[in-house]
Formats: sequence, C-alpha cells, structure tokens
Amino acid sequence: MEKHRFTIESNRTVAALTHRLVLKADDPELVVGGEFVNLSLDGFFLRRPLSLCDREPGRITLLYKTVGKGTEALSALREGEVLDVLTGLGKGFDAAACRKRALLVAGGLGAAPLYLLCKELKERGRHVTAVLGFNKAEEIVLEEEFRALCDKVVLATLDGSAGVKGFVTDALSTLDPGWDYFYTCGPLVMMKAVCRALEGPGEASLEERMGCGAGFCYCCTCETVSGPKRVCMDGPVFKKEELTW
Ligand SMILES: Cc1cc2nc3c(=O)[nH]c(=O)nc-3n(C[C@H](O)[C@H](O)[C@H](O)COP(=O)(O)OP(=O)(O)OC[C@H]3O[C@@H](n4cnc5c(N)ncnc54)[C@H](O)[C@@H]3O)c2cc1C
Ligand code: FES
Repeated sequence: MEKHRFTIESNRTVAALTHRLVLKADDPELVVGGEFVNLSLDGFFLRRPLSLCDREPGRITLLYKTVGKGTEALSALREGEVLDVLTGLGKGFDAAACRKRALLVAGGLGAAPLYLLCKELKERGRHVTAVLGFNKAEEIVLEEEFRALCDKVVLATLDGSAGVKGFVTDALSTLDPGWDYFYTCGPLVMMKAVCRALEGPGEASLEERMGCGAGFCYCCTCETVSGPKRVCMDGPVFKKEELTW
C-alpha cells in the first residue's frame, strides 16, 4: 500500500448518476497496482474505495456512482483539486487463469474493473465476450470501449430500453458457450446467480463496506470455504470455488 497525491484531470458525468474521474499522479512514472484505490475526502472520516477502471503511467481512471454523501462530495470536486489516495490495494482478477476464451459478466459499475481486465486479456491474445447489465439505457457506460476490444458484447437492461430485456443471466442464455473461464463483478445477488448459472471455473470481485481498507480492522470479512477472509486484503477477487454460495 502506498499513499499518493493525485490531481484531478477531469471529473465528468458520463451516464445517469455516473462519473468518470481521471487522476494524474504526483509521480509521472507511477503505475498503480492492485485492484482498487481508497480516496480520502475532506469532512469524511473513512476513505471511499473505488476500483481501477484504467491505468497508464502517471494516470488512473475511476468510474463511480453517486450513492451517498461521500460520492456526492467527490462529484463536486473540480479539475486541479488534489486528492489523497491509497494505492496498490487488493488482489485483482487472474488474467492468466483464462487459456483461450474469457467471458466477462458485469452488473452496473462492475464493468469498471472488468474493463481493465479486458485490456489485459486482449494483451495476452485471449478472445473475450462481455455481457454488460444495467437497469436502463441511460446508465450504460463503457459500451464502446468494450466493443473496441471484445469479440462480442451483449447488453442487458432490466427495463428493456437497450439490449436483452432482463438480467445478465437472461443474456447469458442467448450465448453459445465455449469460454474456458469467466469473471464477474457487480451486485452480490447478480454474482451469485452468475456463479450458479455458469458451470466452468471463474472468479468474482466482491464489495463490502470497508473501514481501513488495508487489512487491519476486519470489518469487511466474507465467508469462504477456508473460513472468513478480508475482502480488502484477501480479495476483493475470489475464485468461484472459494465462495460459499
Ligand atoms: C473494493 C471496492 C471497489 C469499489 N469500486 C467501486 C467503483 O468502481 N465504483 C463505484 O461507484 N463504487 C465502487 N465501490 C462502492 C463505493 O466504495 C461506495 O459506493 C462508496 O464508498 C459510497 O460512499 P458514499 O459516502 O457515497 O455512500 P454512503 O453514504 O457511505 O452509503 C450510501 C449507500 O451505499 C452503500 N455502500 C457504501 N459503501 C459501500 C461499499 N463499500 N460496498 C457496497 N455498498 C456500499 C451503503 O450501504 C448505502 O446504501 C467499491 C467498493 C469496494 C469495497
Ligand atoms: S476494511 Fe479493514 S480489514 Fe478490510
């Protein structure tokens, strides 16, 4: 874990209640590792964890939804303001686990960390199919970015305003199987349904309310086959067979 100061390069609304935050690191050579960063916001005791959506030397991109006071305060910050950020947190997806064809299944902003994974899978020469689920068309993010990388992208919306009407599991039933590994990120009930629907091996990125975000307070534990694990340190990504779903 490292502490850095990042300057806001842009912080723009890109979909309903959804913002893209681009941060420039204090060190232009810095490549941020890990799965998520933890942002300190003035007036808030606890940091707010956000997944890495994209990274390049000296710069990271995050996507976030305004769901409460912290993310609302974040959305009010402007270009040039400086944020205190803990980096290098969490164990991410294992791109090497996929041998040939990967299936990515995202619910809402679960698409953010899966986009970074998608780039890594393509760099490794893997074929990728992505299923992206949202409540409605106005919430869709990263569609063009995934289309630029993937062999196939299927959208699902609960209200039917774009793509398949229904849940991501409804969209899954329209696909020809053939992937050897799947990766999922989104609301817990969605990931449980995906892990039940898909027979092969895979992994899921969990979200829990976090205190320290760095392994000390044990407030983010989840049950696994080998006992309780900390989502912030031992995860947030866990193999399907480790989870007690
Ligand atoms: C590892 C990890 C990665 C995350 N990545 C992203 C991301 O890329 N984009 C994004 O928009 N959000 C992400 N989140 C969730 C994000 O951290 C919360 O939405 C944010 O902290 C809410 O802060 P707030 O002050 O606005 O809301 P609060 O006022 O604290 O809470 C508002 C609502 O959000 C729920 N909530 C708050 N924190 C969490 C949490 N950690 N997990 C689940 N629900 C929560 C609360 O139960 C409540 O219903 C991630 C969370 C974790 C643990
Ligand atoms: S949030 Fe403190 S141990 Fe995970």
